[in-house]
Amino acid sequence: MSKIDPIELRNAFGKFMTGVTVVTTKDTNGTPLGFTANSFSSVSLEPPLLLVCPAKSLSSFDAFANCDYFHVNVLAHDQQAVSNRFASKTGDRFEETDWQADANGSPKIAGAIASFSCKRDRSIDAGDHIILLGEVTHFDSSDDTGLGYSAGGYFSLEMERKAAELENQTNESSNKVIAGAFLEHEDQLLLMHHGDQLQLPQIELDDEQASFDLLKEHLSDLLKCSVSVGSVFSIFEHENQAATSIYYRVSLDNDDAQANSHGALYPIKAIELDRIATDSSRTMIRRYVTEHESGNHTIYVGSESQGKIHKVGG
Ligand SMILES: Cc1cc2nc3c(=O)[nH]c(=O)nc-3n(C[C@H](O)[C@H](O)[C@H](O)COP(=O)(O)O)c2cc1C
Repeated sequence: MSKIDPIELRNAFGKFMTGVTVVTTKDTNGTPLGFTANSFSSVSLEPPLLLVCPAKSLSSFDAFANCDYFHVNVLAHDQQAVSNRFASKTGDRFEETDWQADANGSPKIAGAIASFSCKRDRSIDAGDHIILLGEVTHFDSSDDTGLGYSAGGYFSLEMERKAAELENQTNESSNKVIAGAFLEHEDQLLLMHHGDQLQLPQIELDDEQASFDLLKEHLSDLLKCSVSVGSVFSIFEHENQAATSIYYRVSLDNDDAQANSHGALYPIKAIELDRIATDSSRTMIRRYVTEHESGNHTIYVGSESQGKIHKVGG
């Protein structure tokens, strides 16, 4: 068998789109513990069973491996900040979160779209993780939509739907579509050289063409490397109504991108805004830098000068 590269394997596993959960329990002192997990799966209806896979590297691993009860909170589309909080090494996860104890004493997070109180059924050793099976003792769910996760990035179907609707509406009145990219790699952003100025990579299309696919093709050709086009970052009509711009978040699928003279990766924290070619790009990049720091993503929908920022993260 050929040697499997764990990083590449993780990237390939990451292609499977999932929701996001926060799994919680209390340790023997009654301290609440929790971590973000997308390894959740339903298992059985009779008896009611689910599973989640805690890594052996978790600081709370012993508590989860030996717990009697735990709780799975399925996060809503606007709970990206909660996901980041329960995946991050800094900050007090529960201090900053609205929660209460469930019937078994495990933390139930407010605003989750589905909530499962579980009694541990068994755990199965599985390499660098365990498979923790729980019997559902109580559950509830709401009509809200969930937070999605794919290829290392969050998405919200609700926001994508809104953006797609707007794209269709604006396409009817526009002559052309400008599809652009926020291509981020290791805290750097791809910017193209335009004389002394810098601009976001973009292509101009006829309105009927699929901006998503053609942008992906353009960037892959430019960088000689495959890329993943993620969620929409901004969609707006130009003041003269002649064009619609749609900007996507994009990531490199691997580290093989080739340098080229047309553009370069610039550290996100040190982008010189006065070198950015247009006002609208400068405004977008400013928002991108802020969101990069906070980890909360939004989508801008509107015109060049007026629009709404929709939260993906709460
Ligand atoms: C979207 C997402 C899904 C994750 N899924 C899992 C998972 O299924 N199992 C796991 O052990 N860690 C998973 N993690 C990583 C943990 O959340 C992270 O390592 C953990 O919170 C670190 O906790 P610690 O600092 O207490 O060790 C995931 C992280 C994210 C952002």
